[in-house]
Amino acid sequence: MPFDHNHAYHRLLLRQVPAGARTALDVGCGAGRFARRLAAAGLEVDGLDPSGEMIGIAQALGPATITYRHGDVTTAELGRYDFISCLASLHHVPFETVTKLRAALNPGGVLAVLGLAKPRSIADWVKWGLLAPPVNLAARLVVAAGDQLNGGPDPVAAAPVQGWDTTMTQVRRESARLLPGSTVQPLLFFRYLLLYRA
Ligand SMILES: C[S@@+](CC[C@H](N)C(=O)[O-])C[C@H]1O[C@@H](n2cnc3c(N)ncnc32)[C@H](O)[C@@H]1O
Repeated sequence: MPFDHNHAYHRLLLRQVPAGARTALDVGCGAGRFARRLAAAGLEVDGLDPSGEMIGIAQALGPATITYRHGDVTTAELGRYDFISCLASLHHVPFETVTKLRAALNPGGVLAVLGLAKPRSIADWVKWGLLAPPVNLAARLVVAAGDQLNGGPDPVAAAPVQGWDTTMTQVRRESARLLPGSTVQPLLFFRYLLLYRA
């Protein structure tokens, strides 16, 4: 069924764009679905991904106003942005990469990471283990029904995926160490939202 656990958080992420933001970078943009949403919100958007296949698909889907760059975030030279998003991609690179992303923020800019982490505490397991399946099923049904009404799902392209070992405890600890002042919010579907404002 056409439900994606990362895309389900697009609206939450869009709400983190700071007022007056003009420029955005989407790190690990894949086929560009979130980059397109940022562009539709009026931002000047760059997308970065090391997969030539994904960049090709993203460019073909347009719009031409989005600049897609083929590159690895750990080695690429980044510009300066008012908003930097990183959806389901941080676990492909060392967590310390967040400091490079912080350095690429304009003053007042926001870094929003939708990350993947394993639950550790009993409370986390209860929430994720018991609540996630029914919410997952309901979300799939709602998305499928919406797609039927809107003439079919968005074009789906399978972006490169990778397993992850990071726990919520590690994410909280490393975020506090590397990005003082940041916040980490646990989300359903083994996700978290890391937010930092420069
Ligand atoms: C699970 S996909 C997520 C794609 C997209 N953000 C989304 O939410 O649909 C992970 C993406 O991270 C990209 N990626 C992997 N290593 C990367 C790196 N070193 N720098 C930037 N992106 C990377 C992959 O090519 C892939 O497109």
